[in-house]
Amino acid sequence: MNIKHESQRIAHSFYTFAVLLFLVQVVVGIIAALQFIWPEFFILNFNTIRTIHINTLIVWLLVGLMGATYYVIHEESETELWSLPLAKFQFWLTVVTSITMVLGYIYMGINPQANSPIFGINPLNEGREYIEAPRWADFLIVVSLLLFLFNCFMTVRKTKRWTGIQGTLLVGITFLVIMYLPGMIYTKNLIRDQFWWWWVIHLWVEGAWEIIAGALLAFMLMKVVNAERGVVEKWMFVEVGLVLFTGILGTGHHYYWIGTPEYWLLIGGIFSSLEPVPLLLMVWNALKTTGKPRNVTNKPGLYYIVANTVLSFVGAGLSGLIHTLPQINKWTHGTQITTAHSHLAFFGAYILLVISMIYVTLPAIRGVKDYNPSRAYQSFWWMTISMILIYLTTTGAGMAQTYMERLMGLDYVAVKITYNMWFWVFRAVFGVGFLIGVVIFVMDFFRLGRESSPVMTTVAE
Ligand code: HEM
Ligand code: HEM
Ligand SMILES: [Fe+2]
Repeated sequence: MNIKHESQRIAHSFYTFAVLLFLVQVVVGIIAALQFIWPEFFILNFNTIRTIHINTLIVWLLVGLMGATYYVIHEESETELWSLPLAKFQFWLTVVTSITMVLGYIYMGINPQANSPIFGINPLNEGREYIEAPRWADFLIVVSLLLFLFNCFMTVRKTKRWTGIQGTLLVGITFLVIMYLPGMIYTKNLIRDQFWWWWVIHLWVEGAWEIIAGALLAFMLMKVVNAERGVVEKWMFVEVGLVLFTGILGTGHHYYWIGTPEYWLLIGGIFSSLEPVPLLLMVWNALKTTGKPRNVTNKPGLYYIVANTVLSFVGAGLSGLIHTLPQINKWTHGTQITTAHSHLAFFGAYILLVISMIYVTLPAIRGVKDYNPSRAYQSFWWMTISMILIYLTTTGAGMAQTYMERLMGLDYVAVKITYNMWFWVFRAVFGVGFLIGVVIFVMDFFRLGRESSPVMTTVAE
């Protein structure tokens, strides 16, 4: 199978940048893990390392989702992109902005005064976790996202093929762009600042990105098992509807203890407890649709799709559910239990989503019928088993931390450097296991379809 539209290749540029940043993110994660054991390890301190770790994560997932969206928009509209030069410009704008932003964090890590405000604005780091990007980068990111949205929208408009999948995808991206803006609201009141900040963080991963995920899932099921459009789109609408119904008010699970009114305890508790429901539906949808015997030839693609839905339900849904009620969250809030959830949720819901899209679309972009699937499986198992072990060790650390700090009243540092040490050691070891999986994946990304091999899988027409 080959791509039908030349400009569809733009997805490849986005994937390449995403995959390389993924590697950086994970190497940096291991440095962070080692700093829990040796705080002096490495020239950049933990603050800087952590910022780079989580910002590269967000950027590469966004870049990966953009690549995937560009690919899908072509197929669904059955046309070339409205403007390929604009897409290329938008790609390089994203690359230059993200690299400059990361270099800025590094520079500030070495030279903290460099972030001193100029006309009241911090030039290198704005300080809001996950979206630390300074003001100038915020603007460039918004411009990039708007150009991306505009280009996709104009492409659809060209042929006026408004399929459910593209409509949902465009709604998801629009929501994503709009939700970036509250992260730029400046207020001196810390409660208000946190209030808006969560709109970006929570409403991205439990709102906008989830809508995009629903649309991409529908697309992939059609591609890989030739599922009927009518059927997958019906599932998609139900999933997306439920995501919005539970996820928007589910934001309340971040408003329990930050100074917002008390009614959020009730609202957050009820709605966020329902958030796993649409995630479970996605698993059901994927299993039901792929379960019937069919002549599936892109096996790794299929494998990753199902794994994505299952681990999204487990990593985001179940691991979120266990600490989402205020009665429980008042003990676990901001501990390593949260960190454990952050890892498994992002991995299951979004890392596997982007990788699935890569395996479903890359063979066509490279114009290959056959490719060796063994690396795809190997990297999956290295990553997944290591991530589950990272989750378990961090959860263990979090349970000890919660008990010792909040029930016994020991102080944070004492628990961290004495009682939790073995958890940190194991986390670092499992981190290396995860890195092995990522290296195999990155190698596979660059080699797929570019080598001949005895074990082949054929990609369906
Ligand atoms: C869909 C993918 C999801 C992702 C990527 C994700 C990611 C995250 C991240 C990164 C944090 C930490 C934020 C911080 O730095 O404080 C967090 C916190 C939290 N998440 Fe999720 N999450 C997801 C879904 C869910 C779901 C479905 C639930 C509930 C059922 C949930 C419940 C929570 C709760 C309660 C917290 C706050 C923990 C605390 O109080 O410290 N998450 N999530
Ligand atoms: C799939 C790959 C990964 C994802 C999605 C990911 C995601 C994240 C996120 C969202 C945070 C912020 C957590 C929070 O505040 O609760 C974080 C922090 C961190 N990550 Fe990762 N990470 C990944 C891989 C790794 C690896 C392989 C290691 C090494 C073992 C690692 C070590 C750390 C450390 C030490 C922190 C700081 C935790 C803290 O502040 O307590 N990460 N990561
Ligand atoms: Fe949330």
